[in-house]
Amino acid sequence: MSALPPREHLLFDFGWKFFQGHASDPLRDLGFGKGQGDFAKSGEFHFSTEKFDDSKWRDLNLPHDWAVELPFVHDEEQNSHGYKPLGRRYPETSVGWYRRTFDIPKEDSGRRITIEFDGAFRSALVFLNGYFIGRNDNGYAPFHFDVSDFLNYGAKNFLVVRMDASFGDGWFYEGAGIYRHVWLTKTDALHLGHWDSTVRTSVKGGAATLNLGTVVQNEGTQAENCRVHWKILDASGKVVATADSAPRLVEAGGSAPLTATANVSSPALWSPETPNLYSALVTVEAQSPRIALLACDAERITFGIRDLKWDADKGFFLNGKPVKLKGTCNHHDHAGVGAALPDRLQWYRVGVLKDMGGNAVRTSHNMPTPEWVEACDRLGMMMMCETRLMSANPEGMAQLETMVKRYRNSPSIILWSMGNEEWTMMFQPQGPRVIDDMIARTHELDPTRMCTAAINTAFQTPFPGQLDVMGFNYNLKEHDSYHAKHPKQPSVGSETASTVSTRGVYSTDKLRNWVSAYDLNHTDWSQLAEEWWKFYAAREWLSGGFAWTGFDYRGEPTPYGWPSINSQFGIVDMCGFPKDNFYYYKSWWGAEPVLHLFPHWDWAGREGEPISVWVHSNLDSVELFVNGKSQGSKNVQPLTHLEWSVKYEPGVLEARGTKNGKVVLTEKRETTGDPMAIRLTTDRTEINADGEDVAVLKVEVLDKEGRALPTAHNMISFKVTGEGALIGVGNGDPNCQESDKDTKRSLFNGLAQVIVQASRTPGAITVEAYTEPYPRPKLPAVQVTITTKKVDLRPAVG
Ligand code: GAL
Repeated sequence: MSALPPREHLLFDFGWKFFQGHASDPLRDLGFGKGQGDFAKSGEFHFSTEKFDDSKWRDLNLPHDWAVELPFVHDEEQNSHGYKPLGRRYPETSVGWYRRTFDIPKEDSGRRITIEFDGAFRSALVFLNGYFIGRNDNGYAPFHFDVSDFLNYGAKNFLVVRMDASFGDGWFYEGAGIYRHVWLTKTDALHLGHWDSTVRTSVKGGAATLNLGTVVQNEGTQAENCRVHWKILDASGKVVATADSAPRLVEAGGSAPLTATANVSSPALWSPETPNLYSALVTVEAQSPRIALLACDAERITFGIRDLKWDADKGFFLNGKPVKLKGTCNHHDHAGVGAALPDRLQWYRVGVLKDMGGNAVRTSHNMPTPEWVEACDRLGMMMMCETRLMSANPEGMAQLETMVKRYRNSPSIILWSMGNEEWTMMFQPQGPRVIDDMIARTHELDPTRMCTAAINTAFQTPFPGQLDVMGFNYNLKEHDSYHAKHPKQPSVGSETASTVSTRGVYSTDKLRNWVSAYDLNHTDWSQLAEEWWKFYAAREWLSGGFAWTGFDYRGEPTPYGWPSINSQFGIVDMCGFPKDNFYYYKSWWGAEPVLHLFPHWDWAGREGEPISVWVHSNLDSVELFVNGKSQGSKNVQPLTHLEWSVKYEPGVLEARGTKNGKVVLTEKRETTGDPMAIRLTTDRTEINADGEDVAVLKVEVLDKEGRALPTAHNMISFKVTGEGALIGVGNGDPNCQESDKDTKRSLFNGLAQVIVQASRTPGAITVEAYTEPYPRPKLPAVQVTITTKKVDLRPAVG
């Protein structure tokens, strides 16, 4: 969804000031709450007036997460938050103040001006020009305020946001602060309703009917005769249909729904393989008493044309074809940046999951960032979109409504989730009533999609029977009997796996908090990759499932606690570096031939000892060699890995994979030598000079033959010069307590990641990687240059 003239939708991310306040001492919190009367009178919040001096506050741009900047604390109460000091017992690090001064031109007087937050953690209090504007408590749903009455027109304005992370919404790392975008939106007094425009598509006989709807709101002082015009564009920008609503008089202070239909012949359907998108340009025009047909407000709705069907016996169908959901659940944080992801990182993360052969994600356990949804729409990734609070109370319903209205035009979303594992409520009489209300409201707002919820333990209660689509969390023993009792209810594996592994580690070491990366370990409530997927693949009626998790995430450290600061459930680590199970999924989910051989072949001191060698492959057979000597050939059984036990001798471990009698892929693992060089590889050599775009760099060390060392742990330092800055580092080590914001990082089993962000001046960013004299060895510095190209900047608040 984006703005079209005359509407302005201005990015409000740049040029903020930040101050760490205090949750219990008013004197360290700008005096806020010192006396009784903070909210007694309007217009007296001094910190959001020109009298207040913020010159000593820190400069920063949004999105921002102050939690990732904090040190770790060894306090078991904080393990869910990844041992970050947030919460009521940490008042000195739980409150953050954001301040932004900006101009509003005189000519804006009479327009409706709204400040929109895509999501902020948590308990936002918003003040403008001395006035209290409003609050938002939860950490994930977007919120907005019409501030037209409070602005200084033709003058400076002072916006202040107090964020308080003393309470949480979840049991995982949630970040702290304004970690998503903020916008300033300006419209005419006659405008389209907020997230009211919908495009509902139905496909029949090679043509699509589009049911177009919106709401026109008249906040002016006189009735307006208006109509809405829709222009439908295909992906190349060609107009493929137009439509007009019937004209309608909208009273001053009133609103009215307006609708039309349009047809698109031979539509290019949306699917993960063909993420074809269309746009609807929606314009409200007013006629009288103004001059003839004036465009007052307009927006672009991006949508896709596709057909969804859930069948109790045959599973899920997309565009008439059965499609098994090959999904992962994901939280929203990433190495280096915590919860404050630049948009490009969302695309990067979706790209990693697509590369694995995944076709679906679940936004556990909260409504997602808009750019994650957009990346899924554009790259082709289906989504089970979940709200945070499973409740029919006003807050729960508001979160749900916001989610459905915000995202109901996104083709990637195939299923709404009402929430996850409500241990108490599912068993009580309130449960079915609450879920019924939530589902009914969702269907009102979006009659095109089904609703589910992620169910655990309550399989025998009436609760899951209320769902359009049953969502199973784990518990493979329950599926068949549940299905037999509910033969008309379609099903999906809302959460599965919870397999645990540490990247690059091949024996479990409880003292070091490492779990072997062979597919051998899971928690006592879950399964191995190979177990759950075989189970789901064998049952046509199960529509597929979502593995817990795609990416490792901070918090909920499992299977070990301190010093582990993140979970080890990921199929890829915090940076997106694949663990070996990635290739199990890629073999059986993806379309390409796969041959993946592990472990590495650096086992000095273990000469002559048996080493377990695994291969994930979807070829016909694989033959294994050690230093050219065959260790035997094995036929691949579907959905199963291959395994040899071979005596270690240094040299070359090689797998040759055969398809239809021909060797089509070979993989080698070689014993490496001493570290001699650093290698820096950037995901892109040219990025946008827009102050937002990032390059993601991989750091390795090489031996003299140029082979990457799979067990290296060297500390590497970084210097970033030119038109960009380092915004975070990581290495995927679940136990690493080095700062994500430092200019150095140790490799973990051979890998680290550096994220650099472009400035808004075109030019080049140079990233230099080097070692300090100590610890040894000293390696020669290397550089990578990334061009930052001039682009049209997104309209932004000056
Ligand atoms: C599930 C829960 C997830 C996560 C997972 C770990 O029960 O829904 O949020 O905690 O367990 O295995």
